[in-house]
Amino acid sequence: MRFSLLSTLATTTLLLTSQLTQASTVSEDVGQSTVTSAPVVLKREDGLFTAVDTPVFAYITLIGTPASNEIPVPSSLLSKTTSTTSTTSSSSSSTTSTTSTAFDGFNSFGKAIPTAIVYSPYEDSGACKSSDTILSDLKIVQSVGIPSIRMYGTDCNTINTVLDNAVLLGLKVNQGFWIGPDGYSGITGYVDDLITWGQTNGWEIFDFITVGNEAINSGYLTTAQLISIIADVKSRLRAGGYNGLVTTSEPPVTYENHPELCTGSAIDFAGINPHSYFDTYSSAATSGTFVVGQYNIVKNICGAMDVFVTETGYPSAGIQNGGNIPSLANQEIAVEAILQDMNYNVTILTLYNDYWKDPGSYGIEQSFGTLRLYEADS
Ligand SMILES: *[C@@H]1O[C@H](CO)[C@@H](O)[C@H](O)[C@H]1NC(C)=O
Repeated sequence: MRFSLLSTLATTTLLLTSQLTQASTVSEDVGQSTVTSAPVVLKREDGLFTAVDTPVFAYITLIGTPASNEIPVPSSLLSKTTSTTSTTSSSSSSTTSTTSTAFDGFNSFGKAIPTAIVYSPYEDSGACKSSDTILSDLKIVQSVGIPSIRMYGTDCNTINTVLDNAVLLGLKVNQGFWIGPDGYSGITGYVDDLITWGQTNGWEIFDFITVGNEAINSGYLTTAQLISIIADVKSRLRAGGYNGLVTTSEPPVTYENHPELCTGSAIDFAGINPHSYFDTYSSAATSGTFVVGQYNIVKNICGAMDVFVTETGYPSAGIQNGGNIPSLANQEIAVEAILQDMNYNVTILTLYNDYWKDPGSYGIEQSFGTLRLYEADS
């Protein structure tokens, strides 16, 4: 089976291309990749790689360079190809005929995975995680095959830590601007910072950009205020060079009460945060049908506009709420049902348990971590 580098992630691709060019002057052997347990030899041939199977990710060891220079190659950069073509690079440029390895909702361990997972850059104490810790966390996301992370905000210098590391690992990002009690003034500087980052690093890493998370539901903004802020942020991003999608995230009920949030605003699709736990008529087993129902309600409200689940999940601990009994087993049942019923195309809250949060009145807030559900059975 042959693979070629996709050019969707410009920075990573260029990095690889330049390093591989150096390696090729020594030998055509690019090195070995570690695919879960079995090593696979990759060979470079006119910009194509030959390997025996699709790896989740591979570490290409360059010949003659120390192991510390290993370059992680995410599966999103490897694509099956049928014809002999070369990748786009500064030194060789030609038409690449490739078929992307499609996301099918399962990783190499056979575990169901979402298209995106929430990542929070905080230690249990609430302190900001270091760039090294963030890199190792994101390598774990990459290792379980989840293609994208959701960032709620821009604090902790994450524009320069999370984003730089995500580029290196080939992860996509839904970057949020978190709007709290300070309203728009709390994010204007971060909008500038993100534009500066994008102008340096490119915009391809972003699946989309989210202005506000539950800012209306939390009472921080009126609908009219949020609509006006979204319009302003979007026009600033456009002026800064970002031409991608922009949305906001609210529970479905916000769109029900304020349809103008999708029908009369600058968002490109409706971001929703449905949670079956808060529906007393729901249970772990019906979480999937609950999320689908909420998705359809918002779809009907927002007309032709696309809808995407920007946050859902299920707690593994906390108090019972109607038919919802938090437990590790029920979390697994609920998350699998949501993934299956939503065709795996949702954002799951979250990677790790959030011990930096207050447990909240239901005792659930710390207990949404799901990493174990995607890992190989030990
Ligand atoms: C997920 O949904 C979004 C929004 O509808 C769509 O653009 C995207 O292609 C979907 N991704 C997959 C892997 O199905």
